[in-house]
Amino acid sequence: MKRRIFLNTTALAGLGLTFSSFSANGERKRIKSTRGVFQLENNKVTIFSAASLTPTRIFHIADTHLSMDDHRGEPYLEFSDRMGRAYNSNTYHKTGEKISAEESFERTLALAKEQGADFLALTGDIFNFPSEAAIEWAYQKLTDTGIPFAYIAGNHDWHYEGMKGNSRQLRDTWTKKLKVMYQGNQALYAYYDFNGIRFVCIDNSTYEILPEQLEFFRAQIKSDIPMLLLMHIPLYMPGRSAGFGCGSPDWGAATDRGYIIERREKWRQGGHTRITMEFYDEVFQASNLLAVLTGHIHRQTLDVKNDIPQLVSPTNTTGSFLDISISSLPV
Ligand SMILES: [Fe+2]
Repeated sequence: MKRRIFLNTTALAGLGLTFSSFSANGERKRIKSTRGVFQLENNKVTIFSAASLTPTRIFHIADTHLSMDDHRGEPYLEFSDRMGRAYNSNTYHKTGEKISAEESFERTLALAKEQGADFLALTGDIFNFPSEAAIEWAYQKLTDTGIPFAYIAGNHDWHYEGMKGNSRQLRDTWTKKLKVMYQGNQALYAYYDFNGIRFVCIDNSTYEILPEQLEFFRAQIKSDIPMLLLMHIPLYMPGRSAGFGCGSPDWGAATDRGYIIERREKWRQGGHTRITMEFYDEVFQASNLLAVLTGHIHRQTLDVKNDIPQLVSPTNTTGSFLDISISSLPV
């Protein structure tokens, strides 16, 4: 409890301007970083970049868990039953009143509009399952704000519990229902450039990274464009549980406690693939990475590794979000 109060009320500052990286031949070299100063106060995050960019305010939203459905969902009721009943009544974080997940989402978007947010970063579990009615509703609400957004899926957005098939196949099949949310981009990875910031989206909703995603990420870190990495599942940090993290040395079949209730494939025997671990290492060597934005665990956290902050947004079921301002370091 004390730790949480500290993180929520204390401003943190002071990231370095230079950064160790590895060149193609494996030599460690000293290169200039786009990072400058990072500050956190309650749900407000301020990032000053060493690069020149336009001041940008981002609402980071994760884990709204929308589940409205209509006749199109009827053939899938046996797969949507449990999550369809989840997060229907939530406690609004400001007033303590009971509200639905839809109301939480609407209030967050209304606030984004009212307060002049420039960009919305949606990091997964916006939906409880791939309900076309919920997806169409959310997309309409998002476009009504007129605020550009980037979206990447979480483990629930595409998941119908108990459906046959491995997680990777099911994700490939059911992210097709989320097509509008990707705005013409592909589901597994994409980037959105806005105000001199690159929003890099990688789907790690199975906890794993595919070779093509690693290749895509490598292309992004070669650039010197200041970058935010958007994923659903946070990257592992020492002291955190296997469920916290993509890249956790403890992650695997032996530590999977959720597969029975979620009626899904068990986590991989033997732990993460080599590709996932390579991705993990490369994220924390990226000189142009300002921060990692994630969700999944439903509570606000901050971890800093190799000068790179990783933020988990609090669950938006309660109307909570992170309010992130990015600008250049003052001269
Ligand atoms: Fe969630």
